[in-house]
Amino acid sequence: WPLHAPLIDAINRLKVERGAVILAHNYMTADIFHTVGDIMGDSLKLAQEAAKTEARVIVQAGVHFMAETAKILSPEKTVLIPDERAGCSLAASITGANVRAIREAYPDYPIVTYVNTSAEVKAYSDICCTSSNAVQVVEAIAAEWNTDTVILIPDEYLAKNVASQTGIRILTWKGSCEVHEQFTVEDIETLRAAHPEAMIITHPECPPDVLKAADFAGSTGAMAAYVKDHQPQTAILITECSMSDNVAVENPGVNFVKPCNLCPHMKRITLRGIYEALRDMKHEVHVDPGIATRAKASVDAMLALPS
Ligand code: 13P
Ligand code: SF4
Repeated sequence: WPLHAPLIDAINRLKVERGAVILAHNYMTADIFHTVGDIMGDSLKLAQEAAKTEARVIVQAGVHFMAETAKILSPEKTVLIPDERAGCSLAASITGANVRAIREAYPDYPIVTYVNTSAEVKAYSDICCTSSNAVQVVEAIAAEWNTDTVILIPDEYLAKNVASQTGIRILTWKGSCEVHEQFTVEDIETLRAAHPEAMIITHPECPPDVLKAADFAGSTGAMAAYVKDHQPQTAILITECSMSDNVAVENPGVNFVKPCNLCPHMKRITLRGIYEALRDMKHEVHVDPGIATRAKASVDAMLALPS
């Protein structure tokens, strides 16, 4: 990315000056991901790293709920997000008041909340999960509560996909990811016919029939690891556009076919935005301390499970 070299140099200098670390989600564009990111990965890895970094400042190259999670886990650190408008359709689908109403209606069932939610939603839940540990979290909390029914919110498709892998009854919410819900089983069939040799890898935020038609499903971190381990002739990643670009750089022997849905929220994060965030120490993420303490208990309960 030679055109961006001055900006990249400036960011890397500012990182040292500010004592900052950049947590970059797998959906960041390649110019960010491969140049200024210090820790790259899926939602679980970014949360784990936010909990243990020694840096004074965290810049979240990702969306708002990820920055909030970093702040919840490291309240003494300054957490910056380059663009405050970087939201998420899942996080926008549910409020803390909704979770309180669910608790009142179903007091006997544990509430598992996907990390793609606000701090308030996490605060009223029992435990969080990400796409890489949802099955494990649901099974662990069902055993702890001695129940055959678990509430997993707000992603309807993730909930259905987890339910198909466990014997546990799952109640859910009507939320969805605006990127992954667009993929259809017809897309997979068309891709399969055009590229019969390809390994088709999908994300559990996709509809269940899409997962059934694919060869593997997992979090963005698991998708990248699957390609690395299997080195297929051709790989097709059914997810956000930047994912294939980033994984392709690390797997030069694999041919990537790139069906593509952009996440408009992730794409609000740019190299210039990261530079300005570090230069001006903006936009700082704040979480109400009372909410943060309760939300941290839900995130900590997830992080305490063996990974
Ligand atoms: P993971 O990286 O945890 O798989 O999450 C994907 C996603 O859509 C994040 O917004
Ligand atoms: Fe939210 Fe989907 Fe975008 Fe991830 S890809 S931030 S789940 S809208």
